[in-house]
Amino acid sequence: MKALILAGGKGSRLRPLTFTRSKQLLPVAGRPLLHYAVDAVRQAGCSDVGVIVGHTGAEIRASLGDGSALGVRITCIEQEEPLGLAHALLKAQDFVGDAPFLMFLGDNLLQGSLAPMVQRHLAEKNAATLLLARVPDPQRFGVVQVQGERVIRLEEKPKHPASDLALTGIYLLDGRIFDAARTLRPSARGELEITDALQVLVDRGEPVVATEVQGWWKDTGKPQDLLAANRLLLAKGSRIDPSAVLTCELRHPVYVGPGARVQGGRIGPNAAIGAGAQLKQATIEDSILMDQCQVQGVQLSQSLIGQGARVSGHGAARLHLGDQCLVELK
Ligand code: TTP
Repeated sequence: MKALILAGGKGSRLRPLTFTRSKQLLPVAGRPLLHYAVDAVRQAGCSDVGVIVGHTGAEIRASLGDGSALGVRITCIEQEEPLGLAHALLKAQDFVGDAPFLMFLGDNLLQGSLAPMVQRHLAEKNAATLLLARVPDPQRFGVVQVQGERVIRLEEKPKHPASDLALTGIYLLDGRIFDAARTLRPSARGELEITDALQVLVDRGEPVVATEVQGWWKDTGKPQDLLAANRLLLAKGSRIDPSAVLTCELRHPVYVGPGARVQGGRIGPNAAIGAGAQLKQATIEDSILMDQCQVQGVQLSQSLIGQGARVSGHGAARLHLGDQCLVELK
């Protein structure tokens, strides 16, 4: 079975970091988000993987290469403008063909295997098998109403959600979705919505079924989601590159990348320190520090520090800094 990973989009909620880099390549526990997505589709049995790319396509191609380092074959597919998930899907029709396929949003993280869901989708020959999660804030998501396991209604980011069941970014589909997507008009926010395409299938009486996620699932659209994902992945255990030099207090779990130097202070719990980062007398917890950043003196928590950014001074702060930013706290 083929997989399609969506790695275009604007990433506006993760600015300023996404002004200079692709959202899907932001590092979580030391690895780009997108690499976890590739792992997930490979583990679901897909080795032929299409990746939808937009304006950050060059970066994504450089990170994935031909896919062999991640155990898959990658084909990048251009989406000139981020006109919605159903628009991205239509771009991939030639790649996917009519057969069942797995669609996975490149900023989603999932614990646990998709294999049972795949088996079911293939055995039941469903038009769509959707992975749902119960969420406290369904207004942010595509919301699904079900009768038993059958999906009866979908709505994108409703003001008054009919249920707390949200669409995750993981869908099993087949060629029928393309016919449905082609009938769509742009929504109020100007996108071709996957929820609308799925509703067309439901209205046509096609089998659209839902299954609830086991274990955790995370959509990393916003800074706090990225930090939550970092905590979940670090919970598997600390990873410290042998070339890192640490002379500091350590509270597990942490990730420390190659060539990082941490002198004095404390890192952890839940600190991910990128390659080549230099920290002096800093206290870092529940934060992601990207490659080559420099932090001196300060205490950071719930912070995202871009590549090559420099922070120094005294006191505690919560910072979301883009690449190469400079902050001096007096
Ligand atoms: P979203 O998080 O819905 O959109 P976005 O990435 O543009 O972010 P924001 O809302 O903060 O501006 O997208 C979910 C995933 O789908 C993400 O990996 C990007 C991808 N995507 C595409 O590939 N093409 C598209 O047209 C859209 C809208 C998203």
